Amino acid sequence: MNKVAIVTGASKGLGEAITRRLAKEGLTVIACARSKERLESLAQTDPNHILPFPCDVTKSEQVQSMIQFALEKGGKIDILVNNAGVGRFAPVHELDETDWDEMMNVNLKGVFLACKYAIPYLKQTEGHIINISSIAGTVAFAGGGGYCASKFGLMGLSEALTLELKPHHVKVSTLCPGSIKTEFHHPKDWAMEADQVADTVWMMISAPKNVIINQVIMRPQVPKEHQK
Ligand SMILES: NC(=O)c1ccc[n+]([C@@H]2O[C@H](COP(=O)([O-])OP(=O)(O)OC[C@H]3O[C@@H](n4cnc5c(N)ncnc54)[C@H](OP(=O)(O)O)[C@@H]3O)[C@@H](O)[C@H]2O)c1
Repeated sequence: MNKVAIVTGASKGLGEAITRRLAKEGLTVIACARSKERLESLAQTDPNHILPFPCDVTKSEQVQSMIQFALEKGGKIDILVNNAGVGRFAPVHELDETDWDEMMNVNLKGVFLACKYAIPYLKQTEGHIINISSIAGTVAFAGGGGYCASKFGLMGLSEALTLELKPHHVKVSTLCPGSIKTEFHHPKDWAMEADQVADTVWMMISAPKNVIINQVIMRPQVPKEHQK
């Protein structure tokens, strides 16, 4: 597929899996995260398709440079996968202000910035935004006050984007996964593989042109003996 994609949070976990999946399908993928070395070793696995671009999504100038890099290297932007995210878990009265700010900045402002600067180009290609939210963006849990607030916020942002971009034929999809085996937390044995979630991202991207997959909630099957 002759498309150009940007994937944020590509240095590990789900973002790395999405990057590999899109590269395997022949897309040019701008892989963004802060860890330059990890991005470079990922790019070495498929240098024809994966182009590393170190970028902190909370910094407007860096995000704008990432968009320019994608245009210079690929000539257009078809797909933006907003995957970068952080989770800091504690009851609200114990949650550090810095952790709150980091979650809001990466999980919410980072998505806003990438969308803000990519949308003019996504309109040109009738492109596609995929936001990686979470089941925590649909139901809250104790100890997840800051994380849930950021992901519920992302759901609202995604809905507004859907309405704003519909007339321009830019698709907006939101994926709400349950537990995935990544460094994000200490997952249970039955958590989903990052590749399984990346397959769903590909399913959203490869849907027929006239079909928009707006929202998918996916979760691991919990073994019977561990169900409450
Ligand atoms: N793991 C789960 O169970 C789970 C479940 C539901 C939803 N999610 C969501 O899935 C997404 C990916 O999570 P994951 O499990 O793959 O986590 P992860 O393994 O911790 O990876 C997080 C990625 O985000 C990047 N990142 C963090 N801050 C950034 C910043 N300021 N600028 C650019 N990149 C930044 C990290 O790269 P650098 O540190 O190199 O910048 C890393 O590549 C997140 O949005 C998360 O909320 C995860």
